[in-house]
Amino acid sequence: MTMQDKINELLELRAKARLGGGEKRIEKQHQQGKFTARERILMFLDEGSFEEFDMFVTHRCTNFGLEKEKHLSDGVVTGYGTVEGRLVYVFSQDFTVFGGSLSETVAAKICKVMDMAVKVGAPVVGFNDSGGARIQEGVNSLSGYGEIFQRNILASGVVPQISAIFGPCAGGAVYSPALTDFIMMAKNTSYMFVTGPKVVKTVTNEDVTVEDLGGASVHASKSGVAHFAVDNEEEGIQMLRKLLSYLPSNNMETPPFVATSDPINRLEDSLNQIIPDNPNKPYDVKDVIYSIVDDRDFLEVHANYASNLVVGFARFNGMSVGIVANQPKSLAGVLDINASRKGARFVRFCDAFNIPLVTLVDVPGFLPGTGQEYGGIILHGAKLLYAYGEATVPKIAVILRKDYGGAYIVMSSKHLRSDINYAWPTAEIAVMGEKGAVEILMGREIKDIEDPQKKAEFIAEKELEYRTAFANPYVAAKYGYIDDVIEPRNTRFRVIRALESLKNKRQENPPKKHDNLPL
Ligand code: HXC
Repeated sequence: MTMQDKINELLELRAKARLGGGEKRIEKQHQQGKFTARERILMFLDEGSFEEFDMFVTHRCTNFGLEKEKHLSDGVVTGYGTVEGRLVYVFSQDFTVFGGSLSETVAAKICKVMDMAVKVGAPVVGFNDSGGARIQEGVNSLSGYGEIFQRNILASGVVPQISAIFGPCAGGAVYSPALTDFIMMAKNTSYMFVTGPKVVKTVTNEDVTVEDLGGASVHASKSGVAHFAVDNEEEGIQMLRKLLSYLPSNNMETPPFVATSDPINRLEDSLNQIIPDNPNKPYDVKDVIYSIVDDRDFLEVHANYASNLVVGFARFNGMSVGIVANQPKSLAGVLDINASRKGARFVRFCDAFNIPLVTLVDVPGFLPGTGQEYGGIILHGAKLLYAYGEATVPKIAVILRKDYGGAYIVMSSKHLRSDINYAWPTAEIAVMGEKGAVEILMGREIKDIEDPQKKAEFIAEKELEYRTAFANPYVAAKYGYIDDVIEPRNTRFRVIRALESLKNKRQENPPKKHDNLPL
């Protein structure tokens, strides 16, 4: 064999590997509205940046005649490349090879890129499209999942881990994405569940479709398992690139700076009118977010889940931040179980990866009721409280309107080590609203008044008295619990200055093995 022959052999082997399970199966994949494993990687990474590992790996299984069917690369494509010039490790399950099922060798390939990513401090993005454990390999496949889970756990909080679900993801396989930081699902072509419709029918006698049991919409709105639901893979891949732009490559770095031409001191006059005169009238807190961040650009996370709390990424003068905001438009912005869990997970992610938190507060309190109490609002609410209290990243809060009771403490209060707290003149910071307060404080007096007209007048007078005394920012300001009362239209400028001042903030929690977050 001449050297050229050898090179040709290499090129042939590469071409063969690139075909995965063969043209027919690739065609089927395309017919289903799905891209192949390699196409996904090439669309995701910067052009020409993909470096592939383990193209020549094949499975080692000899059960069920499997030794006769081998595909170069086995059921996953792995390697690294760049996104906007920054290093990212990738794996992409190849449904055209044994349904993307996980063999011992597929697992080893995935583990290799995860190990590399942790070693050099770069994110891992996984494209999931798999029929689960490679059935012919039995326990060797299960061990492969275990090895991946263990790496997900150790990489958690060290490098960002992102899962895109672009096909089936079922059984124990769901737990790798669940251990990662963000899950994205493509509508109509992906699903996730621990047990499929057939098992559900046998065990609970429920008739349910794949889509209704574990489709993207279900997980993005009902279960909260998915952070993003996208209409198609192209949209998803662009969103993954955008998401990465807000994140540092690892927990030792700060997020990348992205220059903007949006002026620092841009005044937003509309904010001086945004709070309705009637304190019970809603407005859209996203209007506030869009008008204060760079270029009105906000990447919302969990957009359709627990919409009473808005979370997502944005920038202030090029600095990446995590925004947490109560949404008066949804359940009056009350904190409930789902909002608390959503917020806690987001706050902890930002803290783990040095992303400052900007909190916009308009919260009437925690949601009352047996549904919430039986569901454990005490513990779930404590998660958000805990997350804010343990976070050591720069924390800035702006109180827009209501800030009542326990929710006042939870939402980035000074008492939980928030660094800079501003309030708009419309802020109401108190133990509770006037209605509840007057009922409790004046209950006996109210009962003693027989004439209904006089009773109503008395209540109205006392409520006004309470509002005048407490429904303002100045009581809290008097004690230094907020640092300043600011004109709403100046919010962008004040937040940017606050962030600049906190750039070198260093704060440590006491040394411990790990915390005991109320789970
Ligand atoms: C080996 C598999 C496979 C698997 C699919 N294939 N799943 N091979 N192990 N788990 C193969 C098929 O034989 C077929 O081969 C090819 O992949 C495509 O599969 P189809 O069934 O033709 O595709 P489709 O009709 O689109 O259906 C996709 C599917 C279905 C819904 C995912 O394949 C399916 O139900 N697979 C089994 C899922 C499952 O029960 N997995 C084990 C779960 S337990 P050919 O040669 O025809 O192309 C588990 C435990 C993990 O995962 C525990 C971790 C802790």
